[in-house]
Amino acid sequence: MEEFSVTPWEVRGRVDYERLIQIFGTQRITEELVKKVEEIAGESHVMLRRGIFFSHRDLDLVLKDYAEGRGFFLYTGRGPSGPMHIGHMIPFLFTKWLQDKFRVNVYIMITDDEKFLDEPNMSLEEARRWAYENALDIIAAGFDPERTFIFFDTEYIGKLYPMALKVAKRINLNTVRAVFGFTGETNIGLTFYPALQIVPTFFERRRCLIPAAIDQDPYWRVQRDLAESMGYYKAAAIHSRFLPPLTGEGKMSTSKPESAIFLHDSPKEVRLKIMKYAFSGGQPTVELHRKLGGNPDVDVSFQWLKIYFEPDDAKLAKIEEDYRSGRMLTGELKEYLIERLNSFLEQHRERRERARELIRLFMYEGELARQMWSDYKP
Ligand code: TYM
Repeated sequence: MEEFSVTPWEVRGRVDYERLIQIFGTQRITEELVKKVEEIAGESHVMLRRGIFFSHRDLDLVLKDYAEGRGFFLYTGRGPSGPMHIGHMIPFLFTKWLQDKFRVNVYIMITDDEKFLDEPNMSLEEARRWAYENALDIIAAGFDPERTFIFFDTEYIGKLYPMALKVAKRINLNTVRAVFGFTGETNIGLTFYPALQIVPTFFERRRCLIPAAIDQDPYWRVQRDLAESMGYYKAAAIHSRFLPPLTGEGKMSTSKPESAIFLHDSPKEVRLKIMKYAFSGGQPTVELHRKLGGNPDVDVSFQWLKIYFEPDDAKLAKIEEDYRSGRMLTGELKEYLIERLNSFLEQHRERRERARELIRLFMYEGELARQMWSDYKP
């Protein structure tokens, strides 16, 4: 038995990412691959060079397709279970960067159906309301409305259904039981749902690259087993680690508000949560801390700075050194993070307000949105 587990529905324990590469059968992202991406992009991305995106499937083939002019497209998504926390933004921020650098189409699936089926207390109306609210947060990441199509499953199902059927016919119950852990108690909606999450990987007749945290990989495994028999490419994926919860282990969860910073948290709430809950690698007293130093490797505030919130390598290195040596106290480290978080969130909220006017472009009237309604014939 592993002391941790990662499934699309739950992340438990302290995740051993190296071990996960073996368990899931994915590939580690090598230095060489990072360099190749950066060469084409003409820029380095913090989440790549710091190994936040650490694992992949067929990323090398995606780059080859790109270099040889076949191109590729991006697909990612969100299950609208409630308000979004900053962990959920990780794949979207990175996808936006890829879109900018490679100038490719992005499809974003919002699975109001999945969350209705999966959450015992969620009504369908509520899931749809969260789908809209979450779409605003996603747009705030800065996607290009001409190359991005965002859709809600319950609204777009007519277009998705024919392909979902073709996929569903190729997946049997034993497979979804083994891959997703479904049991005799699982409702039948959920057992069908994986077919739907696979459909957008077939939106274009070229390779699809999926940026997401590694919890979503089981879907791509199933996709890769059937794609070629349907005349399509196996999906490629690039997997991120999880932004750890404030409390340290597992993943940040909407159902545990003390574990997460939400995109709507006020500056005051951010301060309170970080001060009260952010797991610290510091010593119990100032004297001991000055003498022994802190441990940035387990310190959640430091980890958050490393994953995204302090992109400047020199500044991060200085913080690490000061913290390890005891020059920097836990309180000071937390203050630093609070400041960075609040400035990110303030900017996010402004962009989110503007998204209210843009949303129709992403869902119905932008170039890619219009094309999808008329051209996609499975
Ligand atoms: P959901 O809503 O659980 O998660 C949305 C995206 O955020 C990633 N994620 C995280 N990333 C970093 N740190 C965390 N703590 C963290 N928690 C979640 C997830 O991996 C995901 O990329 N079934 C999906 C919706 C979906 C989808 C997709 C996701 C449909 N199609 C294609 C990715 C790609 C879901 O419920 O995601």
